[in-house]
Amino acid sequence: MSQETIVCKQVKKIYKSPGVTFEALKEVNVSVQENELLMLVGPSGAGKTTLLSIMAGILSQTEGECLVLGNPVHAMSQEEKTVFRGKNIGFVFQSFNLIPSLTAWENVSIPLLIHGASKQEAKSRSIEMLQSLGLGDRAEEYPTRFSGGQMQRVSIARGCVHRPKIILCDEPTSFLDHENGENVMQLLKKIQEKDRCTQVIVTHDPRIFDFADRIIEINDGVVKNEKRNQQQT
Ligand SMILES: Nc1ncnc2c1ncn2[C@@H]1O[C@H](COP(=O)(O)OP(=O)(O)OP(=O)(O)O)[C@@H](O)[C@H]1O
Ligand SMILES: [Mg+2]
Repeated sequence: MSQETIVCKQVKKIYKSPGVTFEALKEVNVSVQENELLMLVGPSGAGKTTLLSIMAGILSQTEGECLVLGNPVHAMSQEEKTVFRGKNIGFVFQSFNLIPSLTAWENVSIPLLIHGASKQEAKSRSIEMLQSLGLGDRAEEYPTRFSGGQMQRVSIARGCVHRPKIILCDEPTSFLDHENGENVMQLLKKIQEKDRCTQVIVTHDPRIFDFADRIIEINDGVVKNEKRNQQQT
């Protein structure tokens, strides 16, 4: 029987800044099963990044709960969240968040080093991951010189290299051409099958919808629609 890897119950998020409050999520209920590839879709400003960040423990919800692998992440201290995320979650940021002073492979190697890999092992695994995304020959370069699509692939490599149980990707193909987008999705699908990994992918990109097991549409901070794709062979 499949298990629930992520359970969001009645999650509400209110952003507060002086003089302004904005309700970005209004009682969202979403569960993600072990080994499922779930896509979150919806218009700009719908709350997709907010929800993904709550699942990762990067943001705290205002109300409700989010259990990840059975753990109430919001109840953890900042340090516990960082350790938990490092151990269980690969996160691919919408804006990449690469470290400009590190080369491409050094950026990718960070999760491996956190997990105690030697520098040599981290380097060879990072380069291998970059090769699988078509960037093997750019591994020694600094990402500041890269195009958006190249930076995006470095960021995806960093999110997957340590084979986390959960991969959360925010718009992973938004800067990619058809061939590279397809390649990224095939890689994520392969990782899903090989590692029984659970993936949540935020996307606007209809070219990749067929890779999903299930698609949830969010609009205006609420779940509007849910569609299960036919079982893929
Ligand atoms: N730090 C913040 N402070 C105030 N409002 C915020 C903050 N972050 C996001 N918001 C607002 O919350 C809403 C949801 O933002 P979010 O980034 O989750 O949307 P999204 O669905 O990921 O959009 P996009 O597709 O453009 O990335 C938006 O209206 C946004 O303006
Ligand atoms: Mg977003």
